[in-house]
Amino acid sequence: MNRRHFFQSALAAGLTAATGAGASGSTPRGLAPGSAAPRIRQEGEAHLFSPLKIRGVTLRNRIAMSPMCQYSSEDGFATDWHLAHHASRAVGGTGLLIAEATGVVPEGRITPNCLGVWKDEHIPALRRMTEFVTAHGSVPGIQLAHAGVKASRHRPFHPERGQYVPVEDGGWTPVGPTAKRYRSGGPVPHELTPTEIGEIVESFAEAAARSVKAGFQVIELHFAHGYLGHSFLSPLMNERTDEYGGPFENRTRFLMESVRAVRAALPEETPLFVRFSCTDWVEGGWTLEDSVKAARMVKAEGVDLIDCSTGGASRNADIPVGPDYQVPFAAGIRKDAGIATGAVGLITEAAQANAIIADGRADLVLMGRALLRDPYWPHRAWVELESDTPPPIAREYAWALRETRR
Ligand SMILES: Cc1cc2nc3c(=O)[nH]c(=O)nc-3n(C[C@H](O)[C@H](O)[C@H](O)COP(=O)(O)O)c2cc1C
Repeated sequence: MNRRHFFQSALAAGLTAATGAGASGSTPRGLAPGSAAPRIRQEGEAHLFSPLKIRGVTLRNRIAMSPMCQYSSEDGFATDWHLAHHASRAVGGTGLLIAEATGVVPEGRITPNCLGVWKDEHIPALRRMTEFVTAHGSVPGIQLAHAGVKASRHRPFHPERGQYVPVEDGGWTPVGPTAKRYRSGGPVPHELTPTEIGEIVESFAEAAARSVKAGFQVIELHFAHGYLGHSFLSPLMNERTDEYGGPFENRTRFLMESVRAVRAALPEETPLFVRFSCTDWVEGGWTLEDSVKAARMVKAEGVDLIDCSTGGASRNADIPVGPDYQVPFAAGIRKDAGIATGAVGLITEAAQANAIIADGRADLVLMGRALLRDPYWPHRAWVELESDTPPPIAREYAWALRETRR
């Protein structure tokens, strides 16, 4: 299944789930008598609306906005669009908002319109976002990223969407572990030298320190979806023969160096997440067992949570997309590596999300498209679940909605 088909079937499955048909654990909407919606109470076991404390940060609930590129920056700067995108989900009650894949260097952006945090000048506009989000009860997080061999492409709403931007039109030569095209017709990436790898590790650490200055309280490292971090991990993308390629210990070297450098740059109270593609879904690729092993290793270096996505290393992966399809990875890593996990991917229903937390399959539920469709998803879930926790919505609205819960 190629990337476009993957995305189309993912969207199709998402729409099915949103209508309630075929969604595992889906529940009729509303509060009709006899509804199967579980009533959740503040006391006792973890549920979707129980707070989550990690290091010095407490999330008001277990709902996180998954990082989603907005392709709306120039020279990496956050704009009013980013403020609106984050502000609306903060008002709507989301516990944690993870800002999109944000370039730690200009060449680390997927497109020339991606967000960046490679220079101090980026801080004020980011701070405007984080201040609003924090003032309305959400925790601002940021995903630090380098797009590697998938960098320098046109944004999805450009006529040549997804195509590489030529150098003469403002693009750049992508870099990666190996000088191997990601797809035919694309540019041959520059194979990074060990010195250049060290410089990128340093850029991650500097970007993390800058992010803290900008007010972000959770830092996530992007080691998924075929971008630079994942491309070092996956044997499908990493064909090096030096200390950064070959055996597992070598393929995880860039990960471990990045984690150590970033952790050292962060205050003790700041949580550090890593997003993995927990499987490549391809024979001979990165596996769940590899993810469990890597999760144990990064946990020992101060990582607090693994955000469990999949895929992206191979355009030929056959991915069984459907509701909860990635949740078993979050459950497996949580159990076998003894680290907190986030579940993501076609989680669209209140009862579905609540069950993931209540069953102990993950500590956090990350949502992408469901929150794009409905910034007030957390409040709607709170109504559906008949939660007796405080309403997860800005006080400016909460007082008016409290009486009716609608
Ligand atoms: C518009 C859009 C942009 C995305 N950008 C990112 C990104 O910046 N970083 C990332 O790790 N995943 C990205 N993703 C993947 C999402 O974070 C999420 O893992 C995926 O959409 C599955 O969750 P969902 O079914 O709730 O949408 C993006 C997805 C969408 C729809």
